[in-house]
Amino acid sequence: MAMAMASKPAIRSFLRSTKFPCPYASVTARHFAHTPFRAESRPNAQPTNHERTTHFGFETVAEAEKEARVAGVFSNVATSYDTMNDFMSLGIHRLWKDYFVRSINPGSSSSSPPSSGWKMLDIAGGTGDIAFRLLDHCTNINNSPSSTITISDINPDMLAEGRKRSLSTSYAHSPRLSFLLANAEDLHTVPSNSIDLYTVAFGIRNFTNKDAALREAYRVLKPGGLFACLEFSGVTNPLLDAVYKRWSFGAIPLIGQLVAGDRASYQYLVESIEEFPKQEEFRNMIQTAGFVVPGKGWEDLTAGIAAIHKGIKPVEKS
Ligand SMILES: C[S@@+](CC[C@H](N)C(=O)[O-])C[C@H]1O[C@@H](n2cnc3c(N)ncnc32)[C@H](O)[C@@H]1O
Repeated sequence: MAMAMASKPAIRSFLRSTKFPCPYASVTARHFAHTPFRAESRPNAQPTNHERTTHFGFETVAEAEKEARVAGVFSNVATSYDTMNDFMSLGIHRLWKDYFVRSINPGSSSSSPPSSGWKMLDIAGGTGDIAFRLLDHCTNINNSPSSTITISDINPDMLAEGRKRSLSTSYAHSPRLSFLLANAEDLHTVPSNSIDLYTVAFGIRNFTNKDAALREAYRVLKPGGLFACLEFSGVTNPLLDAVYKRWSFGAIPLIGQLVAGDRASYQYLVESIEEFPKQEEFRNMIQTAGFVVPGKGWEDLTAGIAAIHKGIKPVEKS
């Protein structure tokens, strides 16, 4: 229990006492070699009194700086992203993603045969992991070959990986699949009330302004449309939480260093998980954006290591 409730200084001291090298040693000395913002414009920038701040992992940075720092992380990890995901989650992320898509049941229709397919938007879609699963489900399970998806991401390197991977699917060059370079906090090229399903998997914790992204999700969804989010969350079992924290803070940055030659990016990834609002708080944020949540609003996966949150845009705003 103590570990589950522990403050960040307590976690730091716990980790120092483990046999793993202290993962925080590198925090202030992070190097983001591919992050021009850091390298050229504001090296070691500290927020001034007048700037709005946010978290970048455990660091407090100016809001204006976070986007560039996150971009640096994902540009660094883009080519090794899948391998590293497998190492980091012991392959479990694939099961979570499969379950996420099954739980949405995209392409389903009350009319038979379905007349028009679902219009889907996968935000922070990166390498297309979720989007290809959604299209497969529409086609193979719900006989909805007219369902379409747009993979949107802020990072051109991650989108390039998605495009590359799409070439080995039947959706390459098909009108069912498109790509959009955009910040989830400002989807101005996506019309209001135009989307049936908005998904975001392991993306929203990286956004600078999560509330703005949720408001955009609400805007672009049709009334009755579904918001579905898969994200790391709060581990519900204290013992598992202690083991999980030790694994994630001790091993993942080290694996990042050994497999991808990049400790700093993976240090950020584990810190960003810790900083992300836990189940209930995130559910409240989804409600504040205007969504109606089914049941309690979320479903824990693997004892809360990850969670699926859903919200429905009401047909008439109450
Ligand atoms: C951990 S990856 C997840 C990729 C994919 N959804 C998956 O589940 O494998 C996080 C993605 O979020 C994207 N991202 C970060 N901030 C973003 C923002 N403000 N708007 C859109 N995408 C963003 C990153 O570029 C990265 O591709």
